Amino acid sequence: MKLVPFEMERWQSTWENTVDFNLSESGVQPIPLRELLGDEAATERFLDHPLAYSQGNGTPELRAKIAAMYRDASPGHVLVTNGSSEANLLAMWHLVERGDEVVVMLPNYMENWGLAQMFGGNVTPLRLQESRSWQFDPDELSSLVTPKTKAIAICNPNNPTGAVMGDAQRKAVLDAARDRGAWLLSDEVYIGAEREGPRTESVWGEHERTLIVNGLSKAYALPGLRIGWVVGPPEAVATLWAHHDYTTLAPTYLSDRLAQIALAPKRREEILARTRSILQRNYGILADWIRNHGSLFSHIPPTAGAICFLRYALRINSTELAWRLLKEKSTLIVPGDHFGMDGFIRIGMGDAQAYLTKGLERIDALIREIRTEKGKS
Ligand SMILES: Cc1ncc(COP(=O)(O)O)c(C=O)c1O
Repeated sequence: MKLVPFEMERWQSTWENTVDFNLSESGVQPIPLRELLGDEAATERFLDHPLAYSQGNGTPELRAKIAAMYRDASPGHVLVTNGSSEANLLAMWHLVERGDEVVVMLPNYMENWGLAQMFGGNVTPLRLQESRSWQFDPDELSSLVTPKTKAIAICNPNNPTGAVMGDAQRKAVLDAARDRGAWLLSDEVYIGAEREGPRTESVWGEHERTLIVNGLSKAYALPGLRIGWVVGPPEAVATLWAHHDYTTLAPTYLSDRLAQIALAPKRREEILARTRSILQRNYGILADWIRNHGSLFSHIPPTAGAICFLRYALRINSTELAWRLLKEKSTLIVPGDHFGMDGFIRIGMGDAQAYLTKGLERIDALIREIRTEKGKS
């Protein structure tokens, strides 16, 4: 199998912990362990957990809490994984065989785009269009999905645009999957991270062949737990568990217990409210900054996720821009090239206010220099 480099993750993994300002992250400020545990008695009790192997597919308690979020789902519909990235890996590994057609929403967190190719699939892009506020054309989808389509992979809410799929698009995806008997793989890791508007509705429960991917890294602000999950028909989930035996065996014991705390219904809502308030506060800062740059940037306000996908009007390639920011200003952003879209950058806005402001000042400094070099003012 030939590796298709996952450019954005290579970039982030290599640099995110070396820079002064990491504005490449798509989640909000992580919750400290002490805060998650709540009080001293709970913290003391937690310290007595053995560092044991945990249940391979997730403890029944955790799977029950996850199942409760999906209509008519039971713990048998759930596999707990190490991050939603592992959930995507297991799903694509199971679904895609050589020669299969896979329709992938683009731009996207490019994991499923890369995996589909590595497992021998032929990828057909389903393009989100800026002119449609980052929605795809429903008519286009029906022409892309054929009887040979094995799976349709969507990311909703979307990374990097922050757009939530509209009603017409939702209907088109479900109709296309049903009509062609294709699997629907829906990465929903930004559900619950809506900055505005109602909580995004999962596509769960509308089509038999559906696999939902989600996890605690984004909306729940707990990326360090590395907890993700797949929800799907029990037979498919059992097969994914058998694949899991070849990857990481089990979620870590402590993470499984901490995830149970985070997903207790009341706590879950408190965490999601925290996420929303961080997004509202920080998008205000970022939107002011964008406005202060006049026509340099244009963007469609993201509905969900701590990310903003900006089109910029500077005569410089996005990778070069990101490299210069990294090397000259010790600040990390994601170039549009990583999504196959030069002329854009993705800025993460989930961190502390002062951190975000200072990171943006570094970008300002570079922009001034570039404008001077290019003779623009
Ligand atoms: C859409 C999407 N899916 C999956 C992941 C992987 O997240 P994790 O493995 O931390 O759950 C990310 C990370 O940015 C993402 O944006």
